[in-house]
Amino acid sequence: MNKRGEMLTGLVIAVFLVLVLSPILYNFAVGNARSVPDLKPPPGGEKQCVESKEWMRGNHMQLLFDWRETVVREGNRTYRASDGKEYNMSLTSECLSCHTNKDEFCDQCHDYLKVKPYCWDCHIVPPKENA
Ligand code: HEC
Ligand code: HEC
Ligand code: HEC
Repeated sequence: MNKRGEMLTGLVIAVFLVLVLSPILYNFAVGNARSVPDLKPPPGGEKQCVESKEWMRGNHMQLLFDWRETVVREGNRTYRASDGKEYNMSLTSECLSCHTNKDEFCDQCHDYLKVKPYCWDCHIVPPKENA
């Protein structure tokens, strides 16, 4: 190959690399960084969840299903947490009384992970006070 041919090949490879890599680089710089959930703590300033944060992260679904079973089947509405504190087993009146920012908290995480709880077909989302 002559000099000119080498340069042309180099140029073609360079353009190809830029085209292939740019969406990846773009995502790395902008897209992904923006869509990773930046979870907002409860606006009321509460510091502690029903159970530990790590436990809640992996088990809140099961906890809610257990709460529903206990309330609907047994009529018992009091949950005693592992630290002895008592909570009202209610999606709206308990979870969302602290996590009043549902769209910036629950929804943000679920949207990111493509989970769609159907609970809100029936359960009320309290209106935002400090929107
Ligand atoms: C008394 C206020 C309060 C109540 C009630 C409450 N939470 Fe929380 N929750 C918090 C706080 C504060 C944190 C952050 C804890 C931390 O940073 O250690 C949290 C953390 C979490 C997390 C983990 C978030 C993460 O960063 O991984 C999930 C999930 C969660 N809560 C879901 C729920 C659900 C579901 C309910 C109802 C069953 C509930 N919470 C009830 C205050 C509350
Ligand atoms: C840290 C991220 C995160 C936060 C914050 C979070 N969730 Fe979830 N949630 C998940 C994940 C992940 C799943 C799916 C788990 C699975 O499919 O095994 C899930 C599933 C659920 C489910 C079960 C849905 C189904 O149909 O199986 C319910 C109910 C639920 N979340 C309620 C809540 C509520 C209410 C809040 C806010 C108070 C909340 N979650 C906050 C990550 C989160
Ligand atoms: C078809 C309507 C409907 C859907 C959908 C639904 N629920 Fe319920 N849920 C009810 C009714 C009705 C009660 C009984 C209300 C009561 O006795 O306070 C209830 C009670 C509960 C309770 C205990 C009481 C309270 O105030 O929260 C929990 C916890 C609960 N549901 C969680 C869930 C979760 C989590 C989902 C989604 C995975 C869900 N529900 C979806 C209708 C529904």
